[in-house]
Amino acid sequence: MEEMTFKYQHLTFTKQDKNEPREYELLLLADPSKDLVDQYLEQSDTFIARQNEETLGIVILLPLTEEIIEIKNIAVKPEFQGQGIGSYLIENAIKVAALKKYKKILIGTANSSIGQLYLYQKLGFEISEIRKNFFTDNYAEPIYENGVQAKHMLILAKQL
Ligand SMILES: CC(C)(COP(=O)(O)OP(=O)(O)OC[C@H]1O[C@@H](n2cnc3c(N)ncnc32)[C@H](O)[C@@H]1OP(=O)(O)O)[C@@H](O)C(=O)NCCC(=O)NCCS
Repeated sequence: MEEMTFKYQHLTFTKQDKNEPREYELLLLADPSKDLVDQYLEQSDTFIARQNEETLGIVILLPLTEEIIEIKNIAVKPEFQGQGIGSYLIENAIKVAALKKYKKILIGTANSSIGQLYLYQKLGFEISEIRKNFFTDNYAEPIYENGVQAKHMLILAKQL
């Protein structure tokens, strides 16, 4: 996927080289466990949305099987959220997955992540599975969003 660069208005969407430094500030916004992040980055591709030379957002794609790929992490710098960059990252991740001939793309989010559930469904993903107690089993500290505890992971899927 080295050659993949998409351009949209002033944003570019580019695959990061494995030897470039990891964007932990963004990665940990979406996933507070550095251990888990480091584990899946080994097998994943990282794509970065940049404006001029500045990184504004990131999306991580992890192949699960020959036919299925998962968005493992997506994050936009807080001061740039709500301007369509998250949608841009997901739309381009879908484009990459389709070009690579995957049949299905997945994205997981917590039961408490109301905005993300809205966004992913708006972009064509449908709830397909629940990983019960994923957050309580895998994270040392309890996570709360919108006053609701993140306990279960909802997996959403989109056919390509
Ligand atoms: C989730 C995230 C990547 C979305 O990026 P973004 O650039 O803000 O998304 P967009 O601007 O494309 O938003 C698209 C829509 O989703 C809505 N939305 C996105 N996140 C939302 C939230 N947390 N709460 C409510 N609505 C939200 C926007 O209002 C917008 O709706 P509209 O198109 O009807 O106006 C970004 O909020 C983020 O980095 N969050 C922190 C990390 C995170 O939670 N990652 C996901 C882990 S599952």
